[in-house]
Amino acid sequence: MDTPSAPDSAPPPAGDRREFLTKAAAIAIGGAITAVPPIAGLCVFLDPLRREASAGASVLVASLSALTEGGEPRKFPVLADKVDAWNRATNVPVGAVYLQRLKDNKIRALNVVCPHAGCFVDFRPAQNKYHCPCHDSSFGLDGAILDPKSPSPRPLDELPVEIRKGTEVWVTFQNFRAGEHKKIPV
Ligand code: FES
Repeated sequence: MDTPSAPDSAPPPAGDRREFLTKAAAIAIGGAITAVPPIAGLCVFLDPLRREASAGASVLVASLSALTEGGEPRKFPVLADKVDAWNRATNVPVGAVYLQRLKDNKIRALNVVCPHAGCFVDFRPAQNKYHCPCHDSSFGLDGAILDPKSPSPRPLDELPVEIRKGTEVWVTFQNFRAGEHKKIPV
C-alpha cells in the first residue's frame, strides 16, 4: 500500500524558514546601508544651493552722494556674485531695492518685490507711494500697506543698511517668500 505523500502547500521545515528569514533580513539591511551614501552625497551636493538661498549677503548698492537727504526713493539694481554647486558668476543682477535717504544719513532700503505674488512695485512720485501694477497693492514710503484692500499680506520688505567708509551704501539683500504674513527668507 502506498504511503500518502505530503501536500504541495505543506509549510517548509522550520530550518528552511529560518534560513529564508535570515537571507531576507540581510538583503533589507544591505539595501538600506548601500542607499545611505548616495543620499548623503546628494545632500552635500545640494548644500551650497540651500546655503545661498537662506543667507542674505551684504552688497554695495550705491554711493551716499547719489541720494538726497529728504529726497524721493530711487531704485538701484543689486549686483552680486552668484555661486552654486555648478556655476560661478560675478556681478549678476539678483534683485533691486528702493533707497531713500532720511535725516542723519539714515538710509531706508525696501526690496522692490511685492510680497503678494512677486511683481515689482513702482514708485509714484505724484502720490508719494509705491504701487504694485499686478493687483493694486499700495504702500507708503516706509513700506507700510496704505490701502486696506491691498492684497499684499505684509508691508514691503525692509532690508538692513550699513554706511561704510562714510560714503558707501551697503544693503544686506534678501528675498522673502511671497504670500506670507511673516518674512520668511528664500
Ligand atoms: S503681486 Fe503685487 S499686488 Fe499682487
